[in-house]
Amino acid sequence: MNKKVNVVEIGPRDGFQSVKEFIPTEVKLNIIDGIIDAGYKKVQITSFVSPKAIPQMRDAREVTEHVLEKYDGKGVEFFALVPNFYGANAAVEAGLKEITPVMSLSESHNKNNVRRTCQESLDELKKIRDAFPDVKITQDIATVFGCPFEGEMKSMDPLLSLLEKMRAIGIHAFTLCDTVGYAWPTLVEEVFTTVKKEFPEDEFNVHIHDTRNMGIVNSLTAINCGADSVQAAIAGLGGCPFAPGATGNTSSEDLVYMLNKCGYDTGIDFDKLLQTAKYAKANIDGNFSGHHINIPEHPCVITQD
Ligand code: COA
Ligand code: ZN
Repeated sequence: MNKKVNVVEIGPRDGFQSVKEFIPTEVKLNIIDGIIDAGYKKVQITSFVSPKAIPQMRDAREVTEHVLEKYDGKGVEFFALVPNFYGANAAVEAGLKEITPVMSLSESHNKNNVRRTCQESLDELKKIRDAFPDVKITQDIATVFGCPFEGEMKSMDPLLSLLEKMRAIGIHAFTLCDTVGYAWPTLVEEVFTTVKKEFPEDEFNVHIHDTRNMGIVNSLTAINCGADSVQAAIAGLGGCPFAPGATGNTSSEDLVYMLNKCGYDTGIDFDKLLQTAKYAKANIDGNFSGHHINIPEHPCVITQD
């Protein structure tokens, strides 16, 4: 088949943010190194958020500077999540050329997550767009497929109307996030075919959580419906601390295994990726939803007494 699929690693942001105990910066950098060594071309390395909200990310600047210095000119793209103008400014000052402001489709999750109304977040997005015209903005839209406070997605209309508002501000790259894993394949199909039909020139990425064991199938559905990239987290670590019931993202190595076996061209070495996933599990006290990290080294060998 040989269809190219852009797999984007977001574990160093979505994965690490869910971990209470501070992960030493060196461990974070080792994991990012392992991900790049496996062949990734795009990694979300951190988030520039309030250290009071997420203490885990207090080394955002240090992580960014190390990574940019080490991989400058090596053909790998790096980006970070920012919840507000303050974070956008800090990310740009640290040297990033791409940022991901985050806003939820649902008013209640937006308030819980970034302590702003949706209109306030839109106003701040405009401020960010105007202040940094040379920075690529890929907008995260959280709770697209369902919200822990407002329930399942009932209609495409609120999403389409939000996209129109963001496009009017000058945003043309979006990541549609299933923040707490509400989606199912036919819903993913409807969403991606609709947005791709409505806005064929724009970029639409997918970000899925594996709460109901549908992470892999939802990700595959989005890819086959034209998603420009698919995000996943190493070892299936992840979850928004401000969304009750949030669990890990689709596991990167499980997703890459499936895509490679199916003949998609990910450019990623599964064995190397699995080693890094195992390193993450051994060095981080978190919740891991990945499957491959739990398979014994030689599952087919029957030992005899
Ligand atoms: N990075 C670091 N510090 C920040 C910051 C940022 N992005 N944004 C605000 N601050 C600081 C302010 O300078 C201020 O500091 P001070 O108390 O020393 O004066 C303090 O935080 C409060 O600022 P305020 O604008 O009132 O923020 P808030 O308390 O309303 O919190 C957010 C709003 C968005 C900053 C905070 O909720 C946040 O960072 N949330 C993270 C959300 C997230 O990452 N969710 C998971 C991913 S989807
Ligand atoms: Zn997420």
